[in-house]
Amino acid sequence: MLVAKGLSAGYGRSTVLHDIDLEVKPGEIVTLIGANGAGKSTLAKTIAGLIEPRGGVLTLGGENAQNLSAKERVRRGLCLVPEGRQIFGSLSIEANLRLGAYAHAEMSAADMEASIHQACEAFPILLARRQESAANLSGGQQQMLAIARGLMARPVLLVLDEPSLGLAPNLVKDIFRLIASLRSTGISILLSEQNARQSLAIADRAYVLANGRIIHSGEAKAIAAQSDIAQAYLGAGHQIGGQVQGNARVAQMRDLLVAFANDR
Ligand SMILES: Nc1ncnc2c1ncn2[C@@H]1O[C@H](COP(=O)(O)OP(=O)(O)OP(=O)(O)O)[C@@H](O)[C@H]1O
Ligand SMILES: [Mg+2]
Repeated sequence: MLVAKGLSAGYGRSTVLHDIDLEVKPGEIVTLIGANGAGKSTLAKTIAGLIEPRGGVLTLGGENAQNLSAKERVRRGLCLVPEGRQIFGSLSIEANLRLGAYAHAEMSAADMEASIHQACEAFPILLARRQESAANLSGGQQQMLAIARGLMARPVLLVLDEPSLGLAPNLVKDIFRLIASLRSTGISILLSEQNARQSLAIADRAYVLANGRIIHSGEAKAIAAQSDIAQAYLGAGHQIGGQVQGNARVAQMRDLLVAFANDR
């Protein structure tokens, strides 16, 4: 579905992403976990076509995506739900939803209405309050609106950039549950998160990003079982040593820490 090989990208004179190899297969939830400033948003934007890569290859559905504009990528089913929601508070909920269908300009009124219903299936509150200003929604509801707006593009692959950011813990749980439920609709998901534990819990596979490099990847369950490692990379705590069991894990953790140190 999505394949990145040796991807690099940056801003001005600084290169932020180095040699990124990443893949999302049909129907998968893949999480990209990393601390503040690791490069998650830069990678999400590069995949979406908002930042031009400096090297490497990106294919979408087997097709070279390099020369496709962001809008053309949306038309091919790749949709980014950006960090920080980017909701238009002065517009109604419905107007925000309609904006999500911008890449499908030819959509009929009936199709639009059907899309709105479909996109809001998991978020009935949005449908009930569709005429209200989006600014009236709580943070969690605005995140739901951002996801529903993304669904309006009828994505095949949804890239979610830190959907849990700034939400209270109970809302975070709801958001992750909703994301997990999207799997049943057949959409593939690339979930960028700092919230390692909960994103690993709903993902099939994971990539750990540190300082712009993928330093670890594998089955989400296997990575979650090494939560002390994830925490070390995410800066969420330093429980190294305390929870380590078995030589294999010690060796694996040492390798990762060496990789991390070399990365600096
Ligand atoms: N527009 C920009 N111009 C210059 N540098 C930038 C820009 N956006 C991000 N960076 C830098 O690129 C690096 C990666 O940032 P990025 O936003 O991709 O990280 P992130 O993993 O998404 O972090 P966060 O969890 O805080 O959202 C950081 O060092 C950041 O300062
Ligand atoms: Mg970010």
